[in-house]
Amino acid sequence: MIDAETMLDRILAAENLQELDSVRVALLGKQGEITARLKSLGSMDADTRAAEAPGIHALRERVTSAIADRKAALETAVLERKLATEKIDLSLPAPDTPQGTVHPVSQVMDELAEIFADLGFSVAEGPEIETQWYNFTALNMPENHPARAMQDTFYLEPQDGEEEPRVLRTHTSPVQIRTMLRDKPPIRIIVPGRTFRSDHDATHSPMFHQVEGLVIDRASHMGHLKGCLIEFCRAFFDVDDLPVRFRPSYFPFTEPSAEVDIGCSRAGGELKIGHGGDWLEILGSGMVHPKVLVNCGIDPEEYQGFAFGMGIERIAMLKYGIPDLRTFYESDLRWLRHYGFVPLDVPSMVGGLSR
Ligand code: PHE
Repeated sequence: MIDAETMLDRILAAENLQELDSVRVALLGKQGEITARLKSLGSMDADTRAAEAPGIHALRERVTSAIADRKAALETAVLERKLATEKIDLSLPAPDTPQGTVHPVSQVMDELAEIFADLGFSVAEGPEIETQWYNFTALNMPENHPARAMQDTFYLEPQDGEEEPRVLRTHTSPVQIRTMLRDKPPIRIIVPGRTFRSDHDATHSPMFHQVEGLVIDRASHMGHLKGCLIEFCRAFFDVDDLPVRFRPSYFPFTEPSAEVDIGCSRAGGELKIGHGGDWLEILGSGMVHPKVLVNCGIDPEEYQGFAFGMGIERIAMLKYGIPDLRTFYESDLRWLRHYGFVPLDVPSMVGGLSR
């Protein structure tokens, strides 16, 4: 018979988890030493059993806990060996791995989010397939209103039970409506996202991106609209004294409406943003029409605000000198390498929007 000390010595001598497991099987397994002793209790007479049982049970407990301790010690050792040998230097650049780049559309969206976050705006999103109510009607473009023809719309196949077919959203403005119906003012959002119009040439693509802005509170007025958009234009194009001009315009969902132009020069056929006495249109804006507020359950006597919208590709083309809109979607690696941005160079107001 093996004595208790030998059992404990064997447990301590196990050098790895497999060895320890064989010791465990030899002692506590079905055919194990201690198991046999426990079984032998059955054939003893009552007095012998009363004398032997406590010793055998105590032995089983000592052995069980010694195995558990040894197991924990071996596992810790395995982990420590791993930690010591499997060091990975995450800062080491992978050799010969081609670096991906951030697409100019994603880059500009990040720049916009950064600039407008600084002005207190958060980012909202909405669906790309919309009902005509969200895309047009709620935005004060009633059915058969000529304003609907301002945007070349993609209509979906009508579904059973639908009053009117759904559309691919022609602008990000339906997200204004969704936000006003869901949230209580004050509201201050920008909405970057995909938009669709049936149009295709060097400056129009059937799918493109817009960013929408919306501010609703008790006191915002045209002065805030102007201040906010001047601040945005100067930050985005990185020209501190960029001339910005507001030109009266028309949108069904804003009143009054203004288009925003920035200063540029076209000397020698080359477009330069900044000074030079020429103007370039970059965005649409206006004070949210009272009818739009009413459509969203907001009392226009109490609340007002402004909205603006612009094409992301368009401002990306102007800022980064990209001549043809169609190249944005060709996934040409040479184009992406040339116009793309370094992934870890995240735009920030303090560190700079882009390099
Ligand atoms: N939704 C308009 C468009 O796509 C842009 C816009 C948005 C104008 C908000 C004014 C206010 O043409």
